[in-house]
Amino acid sequence: MKDVFKAIEVTDKVYWVGAIDWPVRNFHGYATHLGTTYNAFLILADKITLVDTVRAPFKDEMLARCSSIVDLEKIDYIISNHAEPDHSGCLVEAIEKIKPEKVFASVMGVNALKAHYHITDQLTPIEDGQTLSLGDLNVSFLETRMVHWPDSMFSYLHEEQLLFSQDGFGMHLATYERFDDEINPVTLEHEAAKYFANILMPLSNFIIKTLDKISGLGWKFSIIAPDHGPIWRKDINGIIEKYARWAKQHRGNKAVVLYDTMWSSTELMARAIGEGLASGGTNTKLMPMGGSHRSDIATELLDAGALIVGAPTINNEIFPTLADALYYIKGLRPKNLIGTTFGSFGWGGQAPKNLRAMLEEMGVEIAVEPLRIKYVPDAASLKKCYDLGAAMSKKLSG
Ligand code: FEO
Repeated sequence: MKDVFKAIEVTDKVYWVGAIDWPVRNFHGYATHLGTTYNAFLILADKITLVDTVRAPFKDEMLARCSSIVDLEKIDYIISNHAEPDHSGCLVEAIEKIKPEKVFASVMGVNALKAHYHITDQLTPIEDGQTLSLGDLNVSFLETRMVHWPDSMFSYLHEEQLLFSQDGFGMHLATYERFDDEINPVTLEHEAAKYFANILMPLSNFIIKTLDKISGLGWKFSIIAPDHGPIWRKDINGIIEKYARWAKQHRGNKAVVLYDTMWSSTELMARAIGEGLASGGTNTKLMPMGGSHRSDIATELLDAGALIVGAPTINNEIFPTLADALYYIKGLRPKNLIGTTFGSFGWGGQAPKNLRAMLEEMGVEIAVEPLRIKYVPDAASLKKCYDLGAAMSKKLSG
């Protein structure tokens, strides 16, 4: 296999030895429309070191890439920056094949790996700020709790100015191109934003702390090598600045109108609300539940200022598609949103009220009173919808 699955040079001392998961489309609820990669890296220091591993089914691919440049038994150390199984799923088998002198993880990482794989004596905990000599090269460790799990840490290879950032600065994107400058920047920004929105948004405060921590260390970065997607070697400042901006969750002049419809009346309302929003200069996205995955809705919300949700009433409740999306979004804890609700109804008409309660529970400020219309909206009702959109646009830009 090593003649097919080969290591790719990152620097003359560091090689990518990860795996490309082209078909994956669901990553714990996140729609990975473009697949992903699980990145692992081999440091060719005096002490040859493997940084992270890959999801279990890709073990052979990773080991083949390692074998393409070095015999497995020559690998001295393994560093596990993150215990989630997409990066540690084949750690036990890798240990069996490689028989490393030591396997390093953060103190929390050691606990997490023990709890996952019930391994006891192979793991060596490393402290926040500790530096490990690999002989001719040196790697320092930085705890980055909750970026993405409590065990997470970054590793910094001083001589190459290279940061191994595990989930941080990553994206779900399967490509044969390994570096940011080889990929369309629009794709990079969208997929990085989608990753942030769906994985890191609820952890925004920890992102801010991590960015402060690394800026306080004064480390220079020539390369940032995350565990998913391309390696950053060109737009390093750009991705750091985007993280700082996304983590603050400023209220942008953008509205997401999320809705489902039974007989097209609520959809007609959504379209009129959209016209009102756009008339005020608000960047407006209508997202019908029939064609919008919850993870794409989260992505659009990352730079939005308003969430407007519409549903018809069915059996005295909202459409369940909206419940799925709102339940997911609530968990991502978006901040600084204003919003309102709307819907067509036949008799009970509870949906806008129930949706309002859900938005309030999420911390969304109800900036314009919800609107409900009986059965099919006529011209006057559509004007009310338009006015609701225009009023919301005014609140956003005011
Ligand atoms: Fe890519 Fe938190 O694992």
